[in-house]
Amino acid sequence: MDSIMVVCYSYTGISRRAAQLLCSHHGWPLGEITDATPRGTWRCVLDSLLRRQPGIGYQGPDPGDFRTVVLVAPIWMYRLAGPMRSFVVRHREALRRVAVITTMNSVGASNAIGEIAHLLGHGIIDSAAFTAREIEDGSGTARLIAFGDELQPGSAASQRVRQPAWTAPAA
Ligand SMILES: Cc1cc2nc3c(=O)[nH]c(=O)nc-3n(C[C@H](O)[C@H](O)[C@H](O)COP(=O)(O)O)c2cc1C
Repeated sequence: MDSIMVVCYSYTGISRRAAQLLCSHHGWPLGEITDATPRGTWRCVLDSLLRRQPGIGYQGPDPGDFRTVVLVAPIWMYRLAGPMRSFVVRHREALRRVAVITTMNSVGASNAIGEIAHLLGHGIIDSAAFTAREIEDGSGTARLIAFGDELQPGSAASQRVRQPAWTAPAA
C-alpha cells in the first residue's frame, strides 16, 4: 500500500491553500479538520498556551486507509495549532507514517514537529516549514511540490522508516 493523503487544519486559509496545492499537483485526497465551535484569535492563543485539545470535526477519507499521511497546520504561539493536536491524538493509531508541513510567519515549526512526534509516540518521516508569504505569493510553490515528490513511491523519503519519538526536536 503506497497511498498518500493530506489532512489539513487552517484558520485563515494559508495551510488550506498549501494542502490544496499539494493535493491538486499530486492527485492526493484531502481531508480537513474543522472547529467544533467557531473560534476567535484569543481562543487560538489560549489553546496553544494551555496545550488544549479543542473539539473538532473531520471531513475526509479515513487516514488509516493510507500508508502515509501528510499533516498540514499553522503555528500558534510557537506551537502546533490546537485542532491538529486534537486530530493527532484522536487518530494516533491510524497515523503510522506521517510527514508534516507547517505554515507560519517566521518561527515555531520545530516545536510543532517535536510535539507531533511525542503525541504519536514515534518520529515523523519528513517535514517542511513555509512562511505564509511563501504560500500567498507562490514563492514557496516549487519547494512544496518538491516536498511532495520526495514522498512519492520510489523516492528516498518513501523508503524511510519511522524513527523513535526521541529523535525529533524537543517540543
Ligand atoms: C493566534 C495566532 C498565533 C500565531 N503564532 C505564530 C507564531 O508563534 N509564530 C509564527 O511564525 N506565526 C504565528 N502565527 C501566524 C500563522 O502561523 C500563519 O499566519 C499561518 O500561515 C496561518 O495559517 P492558516 O491561515 O492556515 O491558519 C500565528 C497566528 C495566529 C492566528
